[in-house]
Amino acid sequence: MKKLIIAVDGHSSCGKSTLAKDIANYFNYKYIDTGAMYRAVTLYVIENNLLKDGKIDENTLKKDLEAGKIQIDFKYNPELKKSETLLNDKNIENKIRGIEVSNLVSPVAVIPFVRKKLVDLQREMGKEGGIVMDGRDIGTNVFPDADLKIFLTADAEVRAKRRYDELKNKGEDVSLQEIVKNIKERDYIDSHRKTNPLIQAEDAVLLDNTNLTMTEQAKIAIKLAENKCKEEQ
Ligand code: DC
Repeated sequence: MKKLIIAVDGHSSCGKSTLAKDIANYFNYKYIDTGAMYRAVTLYVIENNLLKDGKIDENTLKKDLEAGKIQIDFKYNPELKKSETLLNDKNIENKIRGIEVSNLVSPVAVIPFVRKKLVDLQREMGKEGGIVMDGRDIGTNVFPDADLKIFLTADAEVRAKRRYDELKNKGEDVSLQEIVKNIKERDYIDSHRKTNPLIQAEDAVLLDNTNLTMTEQAKIAIKLAENKCKEEQ
C-alpha cells in the first residue's frame, strides 16, 4: 500500500500535534512536529544571547545556521511513548513549550533564511512518504502535492483555555489573559507574514474542532486518510 504524505496545518494550539500523532500511530507512520523545529531555533536565539534590545541578531543566526551549529533532531522516548526534540543533542522538549519561547517564536519563524533551512530539512525527512507533518505551511509550501491535507482550527478562546490548562498542569505560572493575547498575536503574525503565511490550501479539508473531542477529530481524519489509501490502490 502506498505510504501517504499527510499535512496537518492550522492555527496555534488547536490540537494539530495531537491529531497528527493519532494519525501517525494508527498508520504506523513517522510524525514530525515542524513547530518544534522553529521553537528549537528560537531557544538557540535565547540561549546564545542573539536577542538584543528586542531585536534578533540575524547576521549571527544566519552564520550559525550555515555553519551547522544548530542541529535539530527528534528522538523517540519509549518510556513516555513520544518523540522529543533535541537541539545539538540536548533534550529541549520542555524548554521549547514554555511561554518565553512561545512569545518569541513567531518573529523567528518569519525570517526567510530560517524558513528556507527548516523547509529543506522537512522535505528531506518526508521524501519517502509514510509521514504525518504538522505546521502552518506543510500543505501549501513544504509538500504542495501531499496526498491528504487537513486544515485544523478552533475558536481562539477555546484554544487559549486548553493551552492554559496544559501549562497550569505543568506548574507554569501563567494567566489566561496572557495566553489569549499570545495566541491572537501568533495567529496574526502567522497569517500575515510575507514568507509562507498560514493559509488553507485550496485542496485541504477544513476541520473545526471547537466542539469535537480529540477522539472524534482523530476518527474523522483517519477515515479521510483511509479513503485516500483506497483511491491510491
Ligand atoms: O505549532 P507551534 O505552535 O509549536 O508553532 C510554533 C510557531 O512556529 C508558530 O507561531 C508558527 C511557527 N511555525 C511556522 O511558521 N511554520 C511551521 N511549519 C510550523 C510552525
